[in-house]
Amino acid sequence: MTDTNLTKTELLSDVLLNWYDRNRRILPWREDPSPYHVWLSEIMLQQTRVEAVRDYYARFLEALPTIEALAKADEDLCTKLWQGLGYYSRVRNLHKAAVQIMEEYGGDMPQSSRELQKLSGIGPYTAAAIASICFDERIPAIDGNLLRVFARMTGYDKDIKSNTAKAAALAFYDAVFPQTRCGDFNQALMDLGATVCLPNGAPHCESCPWAEHCRAKADETWQQLPVILPKAKRTIEHKTIFLIYYQGKLALRRRPDKGLLAGLYEYPNAEGTLRASELSEYLRTLGFSAIQTRSLGTAKHIFTHKEWHMTGWEILADEWEEFSPGKPRRHELFLASAAELQDVYSIPSAFAKYTKQIRTDYLD
Ligand code: ADE
Repeated sequence: MTDTNLTKTELLSDVLLNWYDRNRRILPWREDPSPYHVWLSEIMLQQTRVEAVRDYYARFLEALPTIEALAKADEDLCTKLWQGLGYYSRVRNLHKAAVQIMEEYGGDMPQSSRELQKLSGIGPYTAAAIASICFDERIPAIDGNLLRVFARMTGYDKDIKSNTAKAAALAFYDAVFPQTRCGDFNQALMDLGATVCLPNGAPHCESCPWAEHCRAKADETWQQLPVILPKAKRTIEHKTIFLIYYQGKLALRRRPDKGLLAGLYEYPNAEGTLRASELSEYLRTLGFSAIQTRSLGTAKHIFTHKEWHMTGWEILADEWEEFSPGKPRRHELFLASAAELQDVYSIPSAFAKYTKQIRTDYLD
């Protein structure tokens, strides 16, 4: 770098913004960065890769093109549009926040990162991303990408997940952040993290605009940085899953309003792995008498803190004693038609192996 009229921090922001102008990824929400578009994209991108988000983003906006439309939409429609993206509390919070914006902010998205954090589902990262991209607030949107870039640039070699690391990253970015183009600067850092300063595998230092200022490059320590401590072990839960067909419909139930996959729909299931000889008895506790059972195989789904190890069964039932005197009402179970399975009820991808095996020819 030969431009000696610039101070080091000006130089860092200038070279990164120049790099961004030449290398920025073309993404749908960057073409028309209204607050609603940026907000939706940031929520979708929280636990999902850019490539996977594109189609969902387009479909969601086609169905719900404005904050007002989102606020008025049925929650089941919102979760349906989210089906397959996972982490469904994101879409429930999105819907709640849209109602808040209509009721408390006259339909306009608040403009400061501080105010944005009062909305459901918007934490410091998302608030900073929206406020910088839409309203040019000078605030870094600290996520995994920015933390990695910070750790390598400065040689930060302590636990990157700690609050101390976040504070150190904030101080670093505060020093290098430009006065304008704040949203572009955050997005340049996101692109740098996603395409150059890679999380897995060798970074492309040869195309990094910050390479000559990078501690990890000079010390050849990129492999050790950032320091990520091992995660606590996930707990394992065993479940037996049932696709129960009765009178041309499939039995479903709604999950509880709180906790994992809250408020979504699932196939009836039992704790533990039932043996084939135990199936009929369990099904009787749900009110069904089975005339035919067939194995649907095993499946595993990994959540952040737990794993489900599942065994599935297809059941054809010829009786359903939904309600019987003296027994608790089995109100959580109901029967869904093929059209309702398609359009109304969101079944999380944790059950995908079984969803794929639904026999539409058994349904009306
Ligand atoms: N990841 C999260 N938000 C992003 C954005 N605005 N651009 C690129 N990658 C992102």
